Amino acid sequence: MKNNSLIDYSLKKNKNINSYVKKSEISAIKEIAYLAEKEKQKGKNIVSLSVGVPFYKMPKYIKDHVIKTINEKEDIDKYTFFPGILPLRKKIAEKISFELKIPTSPDEIVITAGSMMALKYATNVLINKDDEVIVFSPYFSSYKEQITLTGGKIKEIPLKINKNKNDFFYSIDLKKTEKTINKKTKAIIVNSPNNPTGTVYNKEELIKLAKIIKKNNLYLITDEVYDYLIFDNISYFNIASISWLWPKVIRCFSFSKKYGMTGWRVGYLHTNKELVNQILKIHDATIVCNNHLSQEAALAALSKNENEDDDIKNYINILNKNREIMINYLGQMKNFFSYNKPQGGYYVFVKYKYPLKSKEMAKKILYEAGVAVVPGIGFGKTGEYHLRFSFCQKTQEIIEALERIKKFINLLKK
Ligand SMILES: Cc1ncc(COP(=O)(O)O)c(C=O)c1O
Repeated sequence: MKNNSLIDYSLKKNKNINSYVKKSEISAIKEIAYLAEKEKQKGKNIVSLSVGVPFYKMPKYIKDHVIKTINEKEDIDKYTFFPGILPLRKKIAEKISFELKIPTSPDEIVITAGSMMALKYATNVLINKDDEVIVFSPYFSSYKEQITLTGGKIKEIPLKINKNKNDFFYSIDLKKTEKTINKKTKAIIVNSPNNPTGTVYNKEELIKLAKIIKKNNLYLITDEVYDYLIFDNISYFNIASISWLWPKVIRCFSFSKKYGMTGWRVGYLHTNKELVNQILKIHDATIVCNNHLSQEAALAALSKNENEDDDIKNYINILNKNREIMINYLGQMKNFFSYNKPQGGYYVFVKYKYPLKSKEMAKKILYEAGVAVVPGIGFGKTGEYHLRFSFCQKTQEIIEALERIKKFINLLKK
C-alpha cells in the first residue's frame, strides 16, 4: 500500500490516471472513519473521537425556515443565481463589512458547498504547476491534497514550540517563513483557531506575518471555520482584517460547525470581485450553484444576532465543558500524553510516548480499545507520534472514549 495508507490505493487495472490524483490521498481523518465504520459493521462497539462533527442539531429556527421555504418558495426546486442567492450574499457582505471594517459587496461573495469547496477554489484559482504554498504544520489535512491536485507543492513550516514553565505553546516561526519564501511561493494559508492544535495566533505575530506576505507580494488564504469558538476570553485577531493585505486575500468560511449543519454543505468564499469572476468559472464548471435549500438554511442561520442566539451560546458552553473534561482526563495520563490546552476549535493534539508511528498507533487504539482517533501524520510531518482527539461529541461519549484509552494505556505499560 502506498505511503502506509490505511486504504489500498494500488492501481492494477487503471494505471493511466491523472498524475496529481495518483499523488494525492484521502485524508487520515476519513481513513480512520472508514476503518471504524468497517469495525462497526462487524458488530464492534466503537466510540469516536475522530471526525469533527458536532453532536448538536441545527437550531430549530433554521429548521423551521427550511420547512417553510420548501412549502412556500415557488422556485425552491430550481438552480439559484450561480454565485448564490442575493439575500444571503447581502447578509454576509453586511456581516463582513461590520466585522472586518472592510466595505464588502455581495459581488465579492460566492456561496460554496462548505469551506472545503471555498478552499478548493482558492487553490484552483491561484496555483500553477510547481507553485508553492506555505502552511504552518501541523495543518488541516485537506490543504495538502488540494494543493497536490492543482500541481502545486505544499511547504510545511513547523509551528514553533515555546516552553512555558511545565507547559508549552505554539507560535508561527516567522524567521523560517521568510527563509522559505522564494520565487515559486504563491500563497500562505492561515487557519486560526488551528485544526488540529487549537492555537489562536496572536495579533502581534499575525501583523508580522502580514508584513512578510505584503513584502513578498503573496496571496493570503484564510480558513476561518472555527472563528466562533474561542475559549477563556482570549482575544481573536483576524489577519484578513488588515486592509493593506487586500486585494490578495481569499477567505473561506463555513456554516458546518457553528450551526451543527455539516451535512448541509454550505459555506462561502470572500475575496475581491476580480478574483470572484475567475472563481465563478470554476464554480459554474463544478456545481453550477450551491444547493438551493442549503443556501436558505444559511440565510436563516444569519438571521439571528450572534449575541442573542441562545442555541449557539449553549453549544459553545457545552464544548467548553467537554474541553475541560478532556484536559482533566489527559492530566491523569500525563506520563503518556503531552499536549497544549486548546484556545479555540474542538480538538486536542496529543503527543504520545510509545514507539509506534501514528497510523499504527491509531489502528492499535481502534482495534484494542475500540476508540477512533486520528493519526497525527495526517496533519503533516510534524504530526508523527501525535494523535488528534476531538471533543465535539456528546459528553458521555467523550468520557467513555477517554476511559477506554486510559485502560488501554494501563495495559500497554504492563
Ligand atoms: C480547518 C478546517 N477547514 C475546513 C473544514 C471543512 O469544513 P466544511 O467543508 O464542512 O465547511 C474543516 C472540517 O473539519 C476544518 O476543520
